[in-house]
Amino acid sequence: MEKLWNQFLSDLVVEYHKLQTFHWYVKDVTFFQTHAKLEEYYDGVNAQIDEVAEVMLMRGMKPKATLKDFLATSKIKEAKAAYVTTPAVFKEVLKDFEYLLDSAVTLKAKADAKNDYLLSAKVDGFIENYSKAIWMLKQSNVK
Ligand SMILES: [Fe+2]
Repeated sequence: MEKLWNQFLSDLVVEYHKLQTFHWYVKDVTFFQTHAKLEEYYDGVNAQIDEVAEVMLMRGMKPKATLKDFLATSKIKEAKAAYVTTPAVFKEVLKDFEYLLDSAVTLKAKADAKNDYLLSAKVDGFIENYSKAIWMLKQSNVK
């Protein structure tokens, strides 16, 4: 349980910085739109990082703390310091969000198996958030 929650926490920490890197490096005719959307995404992920770490502490788990640990644990691949177009950004974001949704669903199933209503309820918001973001990314014609 703790390992999976630390996995999710580490993935979110790396995704946060990745979204901010895309926010800086996107270069496209749709810059203003994409730049703003990426900020909305990383602000949301930042709030989730705090929620995950605090619910772990409520359950006596130890959230990882160092960037070194987060990076070693995360399965999210970092973004490069290089200009990138909007379609390429959203393709990558879609892939990451699908992975994060799968992770949240797994956390939900594990929590439910243990009748842990707090952890189960906490994950609901993440599932809803990523499901909606994925739907919207697909609406924008990302394959
Ligand atoms: Fe900014």
